Amino acid sequence: MIPIVKTIEEVRKYVKAWRREGLSVGLVPTMGFLHEGHRSLIERAAKENDRVVVSDFVNPTQFGPNEDFESYPRDIEKDAALCSDAGAAVIFNPEAEEMYDNALTKVSVDKITKVLCGKTRPIHFDGVCTVVSKLFNIVTPDRAYFGQKDAQQLCVVRKMVKDLNFDIEIVSCPIIREADGLAKSSRNTYLNDEERKAALCLSRSLSIGRELIENGEHSAEAVKAAIRAEIEKEPLAKIDYVEIVSFDTLESVESISKPVLAAIAVYIGKTRLIDNFITE
Ligand code: PAJ
Repeated sequence: MIPIVKTIEEVRKYVKAWRREGLSVGLVPTMGFLHEGHRSLIERAAKENDRVVVSDFVNPTQFGPNEDFESYPRDIEKDAALCSDAGAAVIFNPEAEEMYDNALTKVSVDKITKVLCGKTRPIHFDGVCTVVSKLFNIVTPDRAYFGQKDAQQLCVVRKMVKDLNFDIEIVSCPIIREADGLAKSSRNTYLNDEERKAALCLSRSLSIGRELIENGEHSAEAVKAAIRAEIEKEPLAKIDYVEIVSFDTLESVESISKPVLAAIAVYIGKTRLIDNFITE
């Protein structure tokens, strides 16, 4: 089993020893309760780097006051087994005090954090950017791996890396889904049987949207309407947003010509789920 490291000092010792040997280092930031989506990132990182650090930290600063920080699922022993199997070298699992220790500093990316998920989660991306910056400074990886599942997060992290001149390559990994199409997520564990079936409206509606675009539909409004209509057929679903935006600026597009991100957030009962696709 791989070591579960609790302190910043100890992770730095590992990284320093690897660097002395001239080894490359990959980082996979996670909040734990790992599934096949996380595994795909770790396996890719293990292929492309000599050593991989997986961080496993339910980051309190990215949760709003009425969100699921307390109930967020945790299972560090199972996570360590998955990390080990997927080829990681250590798992970094600090307590909140170790990471924050009366910290007064925040990292904040403007504008692209105010749209999509930022509308309902106003402090979320400050929390993400702050913890990801800290992890970058602690681990100093050559590459860091992020899933397209959280497309806005990927876009925000890329912008932060560019703006703050982090010397780290950000690698984007495709969305891993259940056999029936539901995007894998630690939050899927909140769904009961009925909600689990209802949750399929996310991937189903996106398939309809993607097909329309592939068949030549250029009107973003028409594609969004078709996606909405499919979700609205599901009584347990409540739409937070359905958006079509340009992938770098996250600005709404009217006419679909160059590659776009179609992103949705939908409540299934009390659980908020997200999904998306990016056109070629
Ligand atoms: P978490 O939700 O645990 O996700 C960790 C990484 O796994 C993210 O980059 C996410 O996009 C990726 N991921 C999750 N589900 C996936 C799926 N089905 N297919 C592919 N990749 C998937 O995202 C976070 O944690 C946090 O915000 C974090 C970046 C760790 C900062 O706290």
